Amino acid sequence: MEKILVEGGRPLSGKIDVSGMKNAAVAVLFATVVSSDVCVIDNLPDISDVGDCLAILKSVGAEIEILAPNKVQIDTTGVIDTEAPLSLVRKIRASYYLAGAMLGRFHRACVGLPGGCNFGVRPIDLHLKAFEKLGAKVDVVGGSIVAEAEDGLHGNSIYFDSCSVGATINAIIAAVLADGVTVIDNPAREPHVVDVANFLNACGADIRGAGTSIIKINGGLPLHGCEYAIIPDMIEAGTFMVAAAATKGKLYINGVIPKHLEPISAKLREMGVTVEEYDQAVLVTAGETLTAANVKTLAYPGFPTDMQPQMAVLMCLADGPSHLNETIWNNRFRYVEELQRMSARIRVATDGHSAYFEGNTVFTPSVVKAVDLRAGAAMVLAALATEGCTTIEEIALIERGYDDIVGKLRRVGANIRKIRIPDETNTGIFS
Ligand code: EPU
Repeated sequence: MEKILVEGGRPLSGKIDVSGMKNAAVAVLFATVVSSDVCVIDNLPDISDVGDCLAILKSVGAEIEILAPNKVQIDTTGVIDTEAPLSLVRKIRASYYLAGAMLGRFHRACVGLPGGCNFGVRPIDLHLKAFEKLGAKVDVVGGSIVAEAEDGLHGNSIYFDSCSVGATINAIIAAVLADGVTVIDNPAREPHVVDVANFLNACGADIRGAGTSIIKINGGLPLHGCEYAIIPDMIEAGTFMVAAAATKGKLYINGVIPKHLEPISAKLREMGVTVEEYDQAVLVTAGETLTAANVKTLAYPGFPTDMQPQMAVLMCLADGPSHLNETIWNNRFRYVEELQRMSARIRVATDGHSAYFEGNTVFTPSVVKAVDLRAGAAMVLAALATEGCTTIEEIALIERGYDDIVGKLRRVGANIRKIRIPDETNTGIFS
């Protein structure tokens, strides 16, 4: 078992580099299947979710070669329409993209239901509806998505009555090999949707309008491999922006697309933090005090739900009460209990969508755990703002999505380290 120890209470300062975006990387990796060729994917974050994607791709016949620490060559020529092991598929959310890719390429897919962070109910009905619109017969049988299009996939109009990142990307991946034109109305507009479309276009697809409210795909074009670099991770960057604000520090956050950070930058400025934008960097300087502010999570370009737990740490520290409204997930406040162990005063409404922060918290060190990926990052942030030694457990969840978070924070002055300790619950009697 590994834990993170943080001796907090010191301002962070210096330059910190941002890795490639997790949620773009995992989608692009599965999208390589529709190229039926050799792709080289660069700027991949070194995180366990990427490792799990590569293992799943390998299990269905892809040949993987690591060319450099963040660069992988994937040959999907030999992929077959077999079912990937459930034990792998259930480790991550993004495995649902294998269904879109297999359906597009082989006109049939059988993929186990995905895993991922626990935020309550995580339906996939919109993914399945999109596959049906493209002509597939879809069912969930024995815990697996089973989709088949005997006559192949055909372009069609797909209307999403709510925005889903995953369903939008899955519809795009399947539709590039469907004959004719597909129009996706009310798609998600997140930067990773655009990144997947750009990758597929580099493979020869014709996808227009990604990032807007209508996406048009001229399907059925012959695809080929390409070399492609993943965009920077706006959530990792946002997490470091909060780290600067929470520790009264100053961080030059390097290798970002400032436009993608606008919802986060705007909220931080409202709280009295200075955010200066450069071509590929932002400089974040904490103010004297943190002003209380309310946050409502929304689909892009609204405030990202994946920054909600990190923002909660700032709301604890802010001068006065604030309110957080989570509109995307119905159970994303499980970390509140952990922050309460550190003396935060937070009340979660019974509907699970709102939390009220009393503010002016002086965090006290404690032993806390990561209850999910971003919640784990929030624990690290709270610990960095706390005098004394905080221990964070269940850190594998953090490593699903943050590339070397301990090393990166150490290099900007954090007293943080990872330790491996024997599992105290293992009595050793039977082992
Ligand atoms: N939804 C449905 N039906 C569906 C799909 C989604 O009702 O078929 C609902 C969900 O219940 C939710 C909303 O639509 O209320 C948005 O879900 P979305 O499909 O956009 O989420 P996702 O694709 O499962 C991705 C990210 C999440 C991020 C959300 C929202 C990946 C692998 N995951 O999930 O990232 O929170 O979009 O932006 O891209 C994270 O990185 O920590 C993370 C959880």
